[in-house]
Amino acid sequence: MKRLKILCFASMLIIFMVACFPMASKTIRALPVETKQQILAQYNTEQLKEGEQLFINNCGSCHKLKAAETQTPERWNKIVKRMIPKAKLNDQDGMLVRAYLIANAKDE
Ligand code: HEC
Repeated sequence: MKRLKILCFASMLIIFMVACFPMASKTIRALPVETKQQILAQYNTEQLKEGEQLFINNCGSCHKLKAAETQTPERWNKIVKRMIPKAKLNDQDGMLVRAYLIANAKDE
């Protein structure tokens, strides 16, 4: 009986941790640190526009939108990996938001 209780508690703890600390998918976590130039070589204007729209629609519900120009590409590379799961974006949309932010980031 005691074992069952411990098991029950352990599973609740795991569920709680998964729910409260969402993790980016493997694809997102594996993305390399990219510079503006690397991003601009991979995404066209259309995709960057879509990324901007996704950013506006999904990134302002918990805090004010933090404009792309407020962070360096290096910072966005890190921050976005944390925020994509918070915004519940799928990998494809998440990568577009990331591309938009890095492409418009402030210079180092
Ligand atoms: C579910 C709520 C939520 C959503 C949605 C969300 N954020 Fe955040 N964001 C937070 C919280 C909480 C913090 C402060 C704690 C932290 O840094 O993890 C934060 C912090 C930040 C910061 C400051 C980080 C730093 O280290 O200075 C930036 C920039 C940011 N978010 C950008 C974004 C972007 C871009 C998106 C959309 C992809 C987004 N956020 C969506 C909750 C959210």
